[in-house]
Amino acid sequence: MKPKAIVYRKMDPGILEDIRNYCDVTSFDKLDDDSLPAFRAALADAEGLLGSGLRVDRELLEMAPRLRIVCNNSVGYDNLDLQELERRGIMASNTPEVLNETVADAVFGLILAAARRIPELDRAIREGRWTEHAGSSWFGVDVHGKTLGIIGMGGIGASIARRAKFGFGMKVMYHNRSRKPEYEAAYETIYGSLDDLLRESDYVVIMTPLTPQTRHLIGEREFGLMKRSAIFINASRGATIDEEALIRALQTGLIRGAGLDVFEQEPIQPDHPFLTMDQVMMLPHMGSATRETRYKMARLAADNLIAGLTGGHPPSLIRRKP
Ligand code: DGY
Repeated sequence: MKPKAIVYRKMDPGILEDIRNYCDVTSFDKLDDDSLPAFRAALADAEGLLGSGLRVDRELLEMAPRLRIVCNNSVGYDNLDLQELERRGIMASNTPEVLNETVADAVFGLILAAARRIPELDRAIREGRWTEHAGSSWFGVDVHGKTLGIIGMGGIGASIARRAKFGFGMKVMYHNRSRKPEYEAAYETIYGSLDDLLRESDYVVIMTPLTPQTRHLIGEREFGLMKRSAIFINASRGATIDEEALIRALQTGLIRGAGLDVFEQEPIQPDHPFLTMDQVMMLPHMGSATRETRYKMARLAADNLIAGLTGGHPPSLIRRKP
């Protein structure tokens, strides 16, 4: 008998077919009021679970007594209660590395959009406001040659640093739990305290995973330390920053602008203050969302699931940090 698995997000049909070669799969394109009862029923027998974003905590695990592996189709795993999974001897995996370059591209998209005011000026043209030679009120600021500060220097941070150094001739600072001598050597990145990085950077990018230690890492005090000309980018998780504090920092001109791929509540509400701010660039949590990269992530998530349920070694198991 094949092991039973649940796939709870829409999946590439070829990859889903491949999973079916090894597992008896119950699949859901999404979890909503219609699909939740069947999903809960399937949990009773499930040995594997694959998808992204679902909160996997004690309450859910109580409904899934046979579970052996939980495979996130994302690099982030703040949706998983790792301690509880470990206590129950359940493996957990994510999809690191394969998305590094794509997310770094998106981060630079946000940086350039904010620095050169691309969405705002695009709107101005469409609304018929380009009626004479464009003047200084539409000027942006340079990216090349400026200082970029990266908070959270993992694989994505390194891909951002490489672009910054070799593509834009930027000085790159970083702050991380541990120093990364390999990136210091490769991209001449300079390690600094969080406060020094915030004070010195023209562009601040936060890429740190969301953990109890990084929740609201950037708040009122931190925005206050940044240059008034700073542009702040968040492509990690919404809750690594205090969104209310960011709104105030933008409204009072404490910083120049922001580029955001993630928000404390997703999707954001239709009356969210960011929607009226020209200096805020937004993406709907899609930093890794290219066809090529989403395929690679799904493939890796599937490989983890198949290996985990057939006695192999899942290629990207999550090791819980103390
Ligand atoms: C990730 O992989 O963690 C991306 O943010 C998508 O959730």
